[in-house]
Amino acid sequence: MDPLPVALRGHSFVNFKVGEYNRDAYEACTSFAKNFARIKDGKGLLLFGKSGAGKTHLACAVVNVLKEKYSVAFTYVPALMEEIRVRPNWLEKYLNVDLLVLDDLGTQRESDWALEKLLIIIDGRLNNYKPTIFTTNYDLLDLEHRVGMRQASMILGNNHQVLVGGPDWRTIHLSS
Ligand SMILES: Nc1ncnc2c1ncn2[C@@H]1O[C@H](COP(=O)(O)OP(=O)(O)OP(=O)(O)O)[C@@H](O)[C@H]1O
Ligand SMILES: [Mg+2]
Repeated sequence: MDPLPVALRGHSFVNFKVGEYNRDAYEACTSFAKNFARIKDGKGLLLFGKSGAGKTHLACAVVNVLKEKYSVAFTYVPALMEEIRVRPNWLEKYLNVDLLVLDDLGTQRESDWALEKLLIIIDGRLNNYKPTIFTTNYDLLDLEHRVGMRQASMILGNNHQVLVGGPDWRTIHLSS
């Protein structure tokens, strides 16, 4: 089964427009996908930047490259919490997949319960050298307040921080 929700399956590197403002992010993501087999330390990506800049698009483009060969899960963080609440044994899946994408980290203020589950996932994957891609539109200095101190410290310390710059692609047509 495709790990991506239907509306996100079409996001690829080919239809991602590259400019000066997002070239570094594009290159970090293509290189991550290309070198995935050689990642030994579990270092993933933390894609950050303003809303509509293309963070989810890039994360999906990586998934589309890797999904045939590797086990991949893509999840919207609030939905993940709800899923684990209803089916606690699904936690295993998120710990074990080769690549996990946690989209929209810190979108809502999580409960202590949810933050503890998040910590278990982040910590468990790091201990097994399994990379994770995080996306967030929060300022990295704010992340600690959104997801907890230890969670933020682990995420910031163990992933490549990649700024996705550029316009809000959702509203760009409004200004032209
Ligand atoms: N460089 C780009 N080239 C083409 N389309 C883009 C590009 N960047 C973003 N888009 C498109 O703009 C829309 C919004 O992008 P996306 O969902 O990736 O934003 P986001 O950074 O994840 O925003 P949010 O923080 O609100 O989740 C999507 O339809 C995406 O395909
Ligand atoms: Mg997004």
